[in-house]
Amino acid sequence: MNATAVASVPLVDMQGVSVVFGGSVRALDDVTLSINQGEIVGLVGESGSGKTTLCRVLVGLTAATSGTVKLGGRALSDLLAHEPLAFRRRVQMLLQDAVASLSPRMTLGKTLHEPIAIHDLPRKEATDRLQAILKRLGLPADVLAKFPHQISGGQARRVGVARALVMQPQIIVADEPTAGLDVSVQGELLNLLLDLQQEFGLTYLLVSHNLNVIRRVTGRTAVMYLGQIVEEAPTRALFDKPAHPYSAALLSTNPAIDPERRSRRIVLKGEIPSVVNPPSGCRFHTRCPVAQPRCSSDVPALAQLSPGRQVRCHFPFSLDPQR
Ligand SMILES: Nc1ncnc2c1ncn2[C@@H]1O[C@H](COP(=O)(O)OP(=O)(O)OP(=O)(O)O)[C@@H](O)[C@H]1O
Ligand code: SF4
Ligand SMILES: [Mg+2]
Repeated sequence: MNATAVASVPLVDMQGVSVVFGGSVRALDDVTLSINQGEIVGLVGESGSGKTTLCRVLVGLTAATSGTVKLGGRALSDLLAHEPLAFRRRVQMLLQDAVASLSPRMTLGKTLHEPIAIHDLPRKEATDRLQAILKRLGLPADVLAKFPHQISGGQARRVGVARALVMQPQIIVADEPTAGLDVSVQGELLNLLLDLQQEFGLTYLLVSHNLNVIRRVTGRTAVMYLGQIVEEAPTRALFDKPAHPYSAALLSTNPAIDPERRSRRIVLKGEIPSVVNPPSGCRFHTRCPVAQPRCSSDVPALAQLSPGRQVRCHFPFSLDPQR
């Protein structure tokens, strides 16, 4: 394949992916998302909207009930069946609870060497790389002799990053990597992730409830509601002027965007409906401040508004928190 052909294939290509748990919990419903090499894509949405499920599908921990997922043009099912170890190296996940994801009774040195052993990487090369990564991440060398409870939350997060990087992945799927950290440590971790992107050409899918984090580091953002992507847009365009009423409401809750917007916070009525029995028509119609009669019967398709911008709404831009 020549360079142009490689560049034209997205690194991640999810088409019409649904995940149904236990026959009735439709955690993902018809999700289409592609991620190019080197991009940082954000994923936002209320609790239970399906963000973690989407991440788990991408890293091969949860199987899609329907739809296709491709990595570098090849079906995930195929990669998992024929080259599972290589696949698991290419796609790494940073977990929300970094401390809990470390084995409590193993030293961090053992934890960090485990993937090297499992994947049978050339030992000397991998150990050298690990040392370089620890240094790069600002982790003291003596961290290897410690146990998870002996290090701080920020250090645990870094150890998680080190464990992912030692595999030389193509994409890092980070599910709330900064949750629970002090603001200053959050900032350090994000800077680190950005530097690593530059250095290694890494690609990220970044889930966060912190909209400032999303705004600061991502180039494109997908907004999820009840298992669906309701809007996908360049991050700047989304934050400037959200097209989907749910995006508008979600972004209006961000306290730090600007004081003007803060006073126009949109509080959604009602609870999030259940994914077991989602509302008819547009799933958001039970809570949408600008719903029209057709919204409860006609399902809006994901329509392209402008290049790179798609929205699932019959009346985009009807809810503008700036008005
Ligand atoms: N293994 C499972 N079995 C049954 N239901 C599940 C399973 N995993 C997730 N769900 C359900 O799927 C839906 C989506 O969950 P998911 O964890 O993906 O949401 P989320 O957007 O990551 O939420 P949060 O912001 O709280 O992390 C929820 O209704 C959840 O209860
Ligand atoms: S389709 Fe209707 S109910 Fe759904 S988000 Fe758009 S305006 Fe609101
Ligand atoms: Mg989650």
